[in-house]
Amino acid sequence: MATTSQRTTPSTVFPHDAETGKLFAANFDQSPFQFRHALYEMELFQMPALLKLAERCMQKRQHKSHYETGEPVVNGYFGNKPADLTLVQALEQIGEGRNWIILKRIHEEPEYRAALELLITELSELTAVDLRRRYHDHILTIFITSPNRITPYHLDGEANFLAQVQGRKSVFLYNAKDPYILTQEEMERYWTGHLLAPRWHDELSDGHWRYDVSPGLGVFNPATFPHWVKNSDNVSVSVSINFKRVRNDAVGAYRTNYYARKIGLHPTEPGHSSALDRMKNLIFGKLYAGAHFTRKTLRSRFGI
Ligand SMILES: [Fe+2]
Repeated sequence: MATTSQRTTPSTVFPHDAETGKLFAANFDQSPFQFRHALYEMELFQMPALLKLAERCMQKRQHKSHYETGEPVVNGYFGNKPADLTLVQALEQIGEGRNWIILKRIHEEPEYRAALELLITELSELTAVDLRRRYHDHILTIFITSPNRITPYHLDGEANFLAQVQGRKSVFLYNAKDPYILTQEEMERYWTGHLLAPRWHDELSDGHWRYDVSPGLGVFNPATFPHWVKNSDNVSVSVSINFKRVRNDAVGAYRTNYYARKIGLHPTEPGHSSALDRMKNLIFGKLYAGAHFTRKTLRSRFGI
């Protein structure tokens, strides 16, 4: 790991000592943990490079990046896209505004692709998992947030290494395996497209885990572990590295169970029988995923 504060490409992004290896291998895709990294030393993730990247995103006819403004509360909706600002303007005003910018799929740009490949190689070594073979849809995303802004409570379907590169912020995480936090019905609704399915728990506002991250620190957020984020009094830049399991029978089982429950059945929850989960995924889960993909493709290509 590079030890200077120069903004160059570090020789490795993560420490590779035995203790770090144990931490990653024991907890990846299972439990949250804090890690150290050197992404904050890389030119690619500094504001001048991010402004250029945002300009390139805007030039794409169908860029997927997102920006919004507003002051959401922890259990409320996200903000709205400002009609009078472009993506680049929202970024230029990030210090004064109430903006939240997500530069999505930035690995589609060659230099960020190279960074992602480096990350996948290092993380495969640290986790002792062949992430190229057992995980897919490797995604690099950048979150840029105005001072003091909240990212409301939600969950994501991907395993996420969130690496802080500028500013400080607090990440509050909740255990998805705790039925008090997430019921079966909530998981079923989430996996059938109801993204705001998880209920907020006012009595647990500080989460099961709290991580205060600053440049050089990051937090691993397992797939579906709910979370919310509170930015400090600074502009925050975080890099998110996402992985999805190639084989995830539980997702197909949740989707099957959602419809089974609708017709009055009381389906077995995922995790009790791997054979049953596999069968549900092969029979209904794949059908659901195929139909979802077709609908998404038709919408993006033909607007229907
Ligand atoms: Fe998230």
